[in-house]
This record gives sequence, structure tokens and C-alpha cells, in this order.
Amino acid sequence: MEGRTAAVLLAAGKGTRMESQVHKQYLEICGKPLLYYTLHAFENSSVDEIILVTGYGETEYCQKEIVEKYGFTKVKAITEGGKERYHSVHRGLKAVKDCEYVLIHDGARPCVTAEIIDRASLGARTYRACVVGMPVKDTIKVSDEEEFASVTPDRSRLWLIQTPQAFEYSLVLKAYEMLMSSEQHQEGITDDAMVVETMTQEKVKLIRGDYSNIKVTTPEDLEIAALFLQKAFK
Ligand code: CTP
Ligand code: MG
Repeated sequence: MEGRTAAVLLAAGKGTRMESQVHKQYLEICGKPLLYYTLHAFENSSVDEIILVTGYGETEYCQKEIVEKYGFTKVKAITEGGKERYHSVHRGLKAVKDCEYVLIHDGARPCVTAEIIDRASLGARTYRACVVGMPVKDTIKVSDEEEFASVTPDRSRLWLIQTPQAFEYSLVLKAYEMLMSSEQHQEGITDDAMVVETMTQEKVKLIRGDYSNIKVTTPEDLEIAALFLQKAFK
């Protein structure tokens, strides 16, 4: 694919909902840290370079115990993240050098595949901005303040959104610079598409990820991810 592509891998979260002593990105799945699987997929994709964003004081551990130990050659920088996810993304974007496209991915999605990554890369070239996701299977309801059902949106238009989220680098960097300098928009930002949707005129294309591309968030997700990874690494 034409144009250099970077991936910003986010691993600076505290994993509060996992309720474990060790941050979830370092928990072991089948004998290897969760983050290993995420890096493995990107190492084996068409991405040219990887920027790893870790928690405060964790860069050396990641360098020695993950990147060097497993021989990931595409990792060009390891940088510390910030308080919220969007702070970490901003730091990661600033560490990218000479790339036309960038994929932003949750380190906590270890079941991503090189195929999904390459589809997102192609999406960035075709649409300038795209995110992977899947049509929802369940009925979704919006509740009112007392937790009574208030609205039931048309299911055929609802997607659950995953990562990678892939963009022209200059577009997403501009959107993040605007976000960082405008205090009022920063609340409730949970993904990168929202930043591009709010800060620019660009339309964000939804492309298919996979139902197995889950985010490891709560303890039962770890068991599900282990099942998918056992199958993939058999
Ligand atoms: N992340 C990050 N920097 C932050 C917060 C999150 O790099 N300040 C990363 C996480 O490491 C994860 C991804 O963003 O890979 C998605 O976030 P989430 O699933 O919410 O992870 P955590 O914030 O770690 O978990 P929790 O919200 O339960 O504390
Ligand atoms: Mg979080």
C-alpha cells in the first residue's frame, strides 16, 4: 500500500474495571502478556511503524519484557500516555514520524488480526477517516434518568465500534490539536472518530471489524479472549 502508515497502540490505561492488581494489558493469556498478542498482529500487518503508549513509569518494562523479549522490530518509540485516553492518543500522535496514515488501536484488543488492520489501512486511503465496528446483534435502548426505557433506536443502523480507527495523519492530528486547545468539548470522548466528527467536517466511514475483536474490559472478557487466541495461535 502506498504511503507510510504508523500505528499508535494504547496501553496507558489503569484497567479499573478489570479489578486486578496488574494492569490488564500485562495480564497473561496462555503464558504471554495480553499486549504481546496486540503487538504480534501489528508486527505481521502492512503497518510500517508502531508507537507504543504505556503508563507512567512503564516504558522500560515494556521495552525489555515485551518488545525486546519477543523481538518486535516495528516498535519505533515507547512513550508515556496521559490521564484520559485522548491524552494518550495525542502523545502517541506526536511521536509519529513521517507517516501519511495512522491507525489508533486499543492495546486491550488482543484478538485483532493483520487482516482487520490491513482493511482499516485501506479504509484510511479510500475515505481519509474510518473506524472498524460490527452491526449490533442485541436491541439497544436509551434509558431516562430513572432507568426506564426511553428510546429504542432502529437496530439496523446501530454499530458497535471497535479499533483500529484509521485516518490521514494530518487530519487526525489537526482534530486532536483542536480538541486539546478547547476545554469545552473534552468530556465524554471515548473514541477517535468522535474527535474527528466534532472537530472537522470529515465524514467517518464504518467498515467491518470482527465480532471476535473484543476489548478486554471486565474479568470474563479475559476468558473469552483466551478462547479466541487459542484458536488463532493453534
Ligand atoms: N488507555 C490509555 N490511556 C488512558 C486510558 C486508556 O492508553 N489514559 C488505553 C487503555 O490502555 C486501553 C484503551 O485505551 O488499551 C481502551 O481503554 P479502556 O478499555 O477504558 O482501558 P482502561 O482505561 O485501562 O480501563 P478502565 O476504563 O476500566 O480503567
Ligand atoms: Mg478507560
